[in-house]
Amino acid sequence: MNQILKKEKLAENIKKITIEAPEIAAKAQAGQFVSLIVDKKGERIPLTIVESDRQKGTITLIFLEVGKTTFKLGKLEKGDNIVSLLGPLGKPTHIDRLGTVVTVGGGVGIAEVFPVTRAFKEAHNDVISIIGARSKNLLILEEPLRQVSDKLFVTTDDGSYGQKGFVSDVLKELLERQTKIDLVYAVGPVPMMRVVCEVTRPYKIKTLVSLNPIMVDATGMCGSCRVNVGGETKFGCVDGPEFDGHLVDFVELQKRLGQFCRQEESSRECCRKK
Ligand SMILES: Cc1cc2nc3c(=O)[nH]c(=O)nc-3n(C[C@H](O)[C@H](O)[C@H](O)COP(=O)(O)OP(=O)(O)OC[C@H]3O[C@@H](n4cnc5c(N)ncnc54)[C@H](O)[C@@H]3O)c2cc1C
Ligand code: FES
Repeated sequence: MNQILKKEKLAENIKKITIEAPEIAAKAQAGQFVSLIVDKKGERIPLTIVESDRQKGTITLIFLEVGKTTFKLGKLEKGDNIVSLLGPLGKPTHIDRLGTVVTVGGGVGIAEVFPVTRAFKEAHNDVISIIGARSKNLLILEEPLRQVSDKLFVTTDDGSYGQKGFVSDVLKELLERQTKIDLVYAVGPVPMMRVVCEVTRPYKIKTLVSLNPIMVDATGMCGSCRVNVGGETKFGCVDGPEFDGHLVDFVELQKRLGQFCRQEESSRECCRKK
């Protein structure tokens, strides 16, 4: 059992929890995730390890409440336990001194780019971060990202804060200004990652995306997280979650993410009634 030591609300439906998990904290690296079960009858879900503290033996997760499991997780309080926590899972991000790295985060994807942004900064890269949300009240981690970035750009879809528009608009402007960029790293909704890859493709800039296919066992056994990358089948949980964005079949990924819509909607309804 892993106890929740701290809980915070970052934005509407976005929660941050710090959990006692010394074995995971000892090994976790940027880009990795955990798979957790909230209660005895629950399903496993994957969540990125946003922070880990080896000394304290803790890890921090940030999640958007979208369905049954994330709603249940959001209801747990300090002192409650998580029934099962597996990790660290997935391949860590390959961190190197590359030059200029642009990290792009959309929505709760901002939480997922944070550890990677910090790791690239610690490896002495020039780091430009671009973060965006639908509206100001949904924007998270602006200050922590500012601390680990040389430059930070903020967008909101509705113009309530920062530049009105999308993160990909800022990236496009940077590229048009001919800023030398050695790597782009993007996490967010599938359409956002897809557009980011289309923006960088003509410039032939290496673009990594951290994908969120539906995962069941998260250990490479069930095949539910398969994604088509460059015509080959890859498993998000063991081969990823990061892939070369220029090779990812985003249309298929989006289709696969929608395959349990009806079941997800009915389990969300059950949660609301409780
Ligand atoms: C490697 C990885 C890291 C992730 N990190 C984070 C994170 O740090 N913060 C965060 O808020 N979310 C993250 N996600 C997404 C998170 O796992 C899903 O939001 C969660 O599983 C939804 O479960 P649910 O029961 O609450 O909702 P459901 O009712 O099951 O689903 C709601 C939505 O989530 C999608 N979804 C459902 N199950 C999964 C699943 N097992 N994996 C991925 N997507 C799913 C569905 O397509 C649907 O759109 C990550 C996903 C992956 C694969
Ligand atoms: S989640 Fe089962 S193979 Fe990846």
